[in-house]
Amino acid sequence: MHALPRILTMTAAAVLAAGGWMLAQPQTSASGTPAAAAAGPAKVSAPPGPGYYTEAQAARGKVKFEKECSDCHSVDPKKPPRVSYGGNLSSGFRSLKEARYNNHSRYPSVYYYWRRMESEPGDNIDRVSPKDKLDVLTYLLKENGFPPGPKELVIDENAMKGMYLDAGPGFEWLFNGRDLSGWGFLAGHNCEPKPQGCGETNPYPEVTVKNGEMLVAGKHHTLAYTERKFKNYTLQLEQRFNKRWDDNPDLFPVNAGVMVFMSNIRHWPDKYALVDGRWYDFMHIQSPGLNWKNTYDDDVRRRALRGPNEWQDIEIVAKNGGLKAYLNGLLISTVEEGQITEPSRLGFQLQVVETHIRHIRIKVDD
Ligand code: HEC
Repeated sequence: MHALPRILTMTAAAVLAAGGWMLAQPQTSASGTPAAAAAGPAKVSAPPGPGYYTEAQAARGKVKFEKECSDCHSVDPKKPPRVSYGGNLSSGFRSLKEARYNNHSRYPSVYYYWRRMESEPGDNIDRVSPKDKLDVLTYLLKENGFPPGPKELVIDENAMKGMYLDAGPGFEWLFNGRDLSGWGFLAGHNCEPKPQGCGETNPYPEVTVKNGEMLVAGKHHTLAYTERKFKNYTLQLEQRFNKRWDDNPDLFPVNAGVMVFMSNIRHWPDKYALVDGRWYDFMHIQSPGLNWKNTYDDDVRRRALRGPNEWQDIEIVAKNGGLKAYLNGLLISTVEEGQITEPSRLGFQLQVVETHIRHIRIKVDD
């Protein structure tokens, strides 16, 4: 028996509650400073959604799996495949939970698993039809602990991108790929959220969710922020700008940023620290009013950046009051330890360029 993932322990009510986005009710005191801790559920955000396939589909997939795949693979650790060549697909390093590279999950959504199926079965990829591969995939989802639901999985690659799987060992999805639960939004310069302030809190139509991405239209400056606060954590996400550009890539005029400290919810806060997302300054940490001591390596930034309009991998590790910011796996900025003394919400500066953000996940260390 493999360990049951936490999604199986969810109640039906919790699954339903996860279905719609909730706007944050910012906890601000009269002085405008946030209340000590954001009240909220134990989970950062809703876990992967109600089943992506039906029981009947997985049953069909089981038959196909045994016929087409079981020479080389098994799903029961006690029953090895006929030839121990492809290994076990539901436990160990080939399971959905553990398949990873550099601390990132290799199958963040059904899409990546589906695309992996194109290279199977290894002896002849045309031996099994796409339809049968799809059914086998649902059987493997089931064997990996993802429960069935009311609708069959169909071959729709964009929809599959929004079907999030495991966030990786120790990680939770901060954005679940389906809705904006767990997030607050604010627009209006120098404004705190309504009703206390002048800030607009409805994310639509500036921020929507599509194909597993938080899609930012880029029409006006907006701040997205987490309902919860964090102190020691690893934050990972992928971000991509979408802007027509066939010019010098160094001069790509786009902007974003992750706020790792917000003294209050305002656009902009009284005191904040921003891991910059301006193209020419990616991962440079600014901390007005806080003056955290930090280092920034612009040579590494230039080497790390992928092209304009490509996905960039961003990782921020907060530990012992210090912080490290990585771009595409390379360390760009470091805040010396012992300087960050309180937990904070995380904020996303959404600037006037179409921006796509996905796979936002967090590993909380305390
Ligand atoms: C001839 C033997 C063989 C057959 C038959 C076969 N596979 Fe594989 N499969 C492999 C091998 C070997 C690997 C590992 C390759 C690698 O590490 O890149 C693999 C890897 C995989 C993976 C990736 C696991 C990971 O580590 O992330 C999946 C998923 C998979 N196979 C599914 C299937 C399915 C579904 C079928 C049946 C339709 C199938 N395979 C049939 C040999 C086989």
